[in-house]
Amino acid sequence: MSFTLPDLPYSYDALAPYMSRETLEYHHDKHHLAYVNNGNNLLKGTEFEGKSLEEIVKGSYGKNAGLFNNAAQHYNHLHFWNWLKPNGGGAIPGEIEKKLVEDFGSVDKFKEEFLAAGTTQFGSGWAWLALKDGKFVVEKTPNGENPLVKGGVPLLGVDVWEHSYYIDYRNRRPDYLKAFVENLVNWDYVAELYSKAA
Ligand SMILES: [Fe+2]
Repeated sequence: MSFTLPDLPYSYDALAPYMSRETLEYHHDKHHLAYVNNGNNLLKGTEFEGKSLEEIVKGSYGKNAGLFNNAAQHYNHLHFWNWLKPNGGGAIPGEIEKKLVEDFGSVDKFKEEFLAAGTTQFGSGWAWLALKDGKFVVEKTPNGENPLVKGGVPLLGVDVWEHSYYIDYRNRRPDYLKAFVENLVNWDYVAELYSKAA
């Protein structure tokens, strides 16, 4: 298979004021597109041609850094656009809320850990809620790495590369993370991924 850039599942203005049109134009139309194009070029002639995106991400990790970086970032961004929605945050579907309370003690405790992971990821990377050995865990990863290469399943991820927030928040990464959790998260998509993974 080759990688293709999907359209955003909402308009470029839909996430304002928490994420602007300008951010989405750069992030989706330029950054994500570059991962798609570079990934396709680096995929050609490798053993991974014809494999699924997940297989490429897992298989190239630690073996083909260029291909891994671009394939993983393509995977991460495909999900990232769906982890966002207009009027997001808010009510969490019952089965997700129950599991957050079970594994973190409370929803607030989960949010605290998730925000701390995003804030303390040094340099570019991601913060995650992942399913690992039947439990919800918070992780942080550098660059394009994600829970798939650490034996988990990504359920929610927030991009903390500067291209994700610098236009709207400048250096205020914690404010961006707070807006992500309180106003942008698409919990229905988290529930959809959990139902496939559980
Ligand atoms: Fe990004």
